[in-house]
Amino acid sequence: MAFCGMRRSVWILLVFFCCCLDNVHAQGSWQLLVKNAGVCSMHAAVTRFGNVVLFDRTDAGASQINLPNGRCRDDPQDLILKHDCTAHSILFSPATNSIRPLFLQTDTWCSSGQFFANGTLVQTGGDFDGNTKIRFYAPCPDNGICDWVESSDQKLQNGRWYATNQLLPDGNSQILMGGRQVFTLEYVPANGQGTTALPFLQQTDDAQNDNYYPFVHLLPDGNLFIFANQDSILYNYRNNKVLMKYPAIPGEPRNYPSAGSSVLLPLVATDGYKQADVLICGGAHPGAFRNAKAFFPASQTCGRMTVTASNPTWLMENMPFRRTMGDMILLPTGDVLIINGALNGCQGWGNAKNAALNPVLRTQQRCQFPTELRVEAFSPTYLNPALAQLRPTIVKFPAVIIYSTPFVVTVTIPAQPPGGVAINLVSAPFTTHSYAQGQRLLKLALLGDVVMVGKRNHFTAIAPPNNNVAPTSYYMLFVINNGVPSNAVWVKLSP
Ligand SMILES: *[C@@H]1O[C@H](CO)[C@@H](O)[C@H](O)[C@H]1NC(C)=O
Repeated sequence: MAFCGMRRSVWILLVFFCCCLDNVHAQGSWQLLVKNAGVCSMHAAVTRFGNVVLFDRTDAGASQINLPNGRCRDDPQDLILKHDCTAHSILFSPATNSIRPLFLQTDTWCSSGQFFANGTLVQTGGDFDGNTKIRFYAPCPDNGICDWVESSDQKLQNGRWYATNQLLPDGNSQILMGGRQVFTLEYVPANGQGTTALPFLQQTDDAQNDNYYPFVHLLPDGNLFIFANQDSILYNYRNNKVLMKYPAIPGEPRNYPSAGSSVLLPLVATDGYKQADVLICGGAHPGAFRNAKAFFPASQTCGRMTVTASNPTWLMENMPFRRTMGDMILLPTGDVLIINGALNGCQGWGNAKNAALNPVLRTQQRCQFPTELRVEAFSPTYLNPALAQLRPTIVKFPAVIIYSTPFVVTVTIPAQPPGGVAINLVSAPFTTHSYAQGQRLLKLALLGDVVMVGKRNHFTAIAPPNNNVAPTSYYMLFVINNGVPSNAVWVKLSP
């Protein structure tokens, strides 16, 4: 297999995990959940029901799991298997470690996605017959029967392969940009204005196309930060104006196929959600894809920039290890976990080798990864049973929270905390190719004192101020006590 088979280890992170307490417990642990998921998890998204949609491409031959009820997929355009009775997507339920095959018709290879405010996953593009496709997955509980629906009346205006989606503030539309040799942006649903040229995407193209899957982050001022290769801009999508060009990040190219990763660091109530910092880590040696069998050492650097500053510069730091094809994940505490990837080479086609080791992870060193069909969970140190006394349990919360409006979350905590409690919202991103599209975390303001009633603590938090800070959508809400998070509950953030 091509892409997943390119020796990337795919570890599926579940939502109830977290950070590193920088002490004796600073290891975390891995747990095997499913020995053979049947499909390779090229793409992954956690739904508002807490289950996980996983999928691969459709055009690489049979998977290792059959479609149910004798269903088959007939696709005259499929290059390898025109009559295919296997599934290329599954729903994984962490509560029971079970999987259910889902039906994907067209090719999702290197496609993109994002959730709408109503919790429906929108999934766009791919290769071959999937190039202009728009697919929907309206999620359901573990015992439901929901499945992929391919739109018959909407399609992308430009075919997009390796594009990036970002949910827009109203939660009902997404901006899509880039893709292989596509230097435009467009909207889903279409806004009636066709596609818009984005010359930045052409300017960042190079001999090995280091501008696929651009890193896009919606900033609290309503503009977009867009990063490709080593360059970045501040972009007002409402009038298509580039407001600022940022300095180039030192070091190596960072996007596919060099495959660094990027996150918008947590937005915090303590500064009125004004400051936005972007962190980009890893990547490949320049030209690594064109000279793939040299397996050059990957990038060891991270760059952090306050992108809302008037005179921003990259602050560089070294990671303990080199890494290409890492995944950066905002843990509920606001810490960033970097996992996956390799020490040498770059992304795609078996071009990487030497698993990236990280002291926070318990892994074995292996030289080449086969296509990985196992599903594992990484438990950060805060899940250590020794910390159970600190773990909050959410017993009451509102299903809907309103911008700028206080709301009460009721928790029990075995050891009553004198302080150190935080309430954070975490979006559900669409993860593929070392980058979680639409990932963001909000550290909320807490109001007044904790009210104790019996063994229950009532915390009052204030929802984010507006939809640029946090687009209308479902979020995971965590209560964190001295670095130890509760399980998440899903809340809808609404106007
Ligand atoms: C979810 O919202 C999108 C965008 O507004 C809409 O196209 C879609 O029909 C909605 N789906 C459901 C199941 O309500």
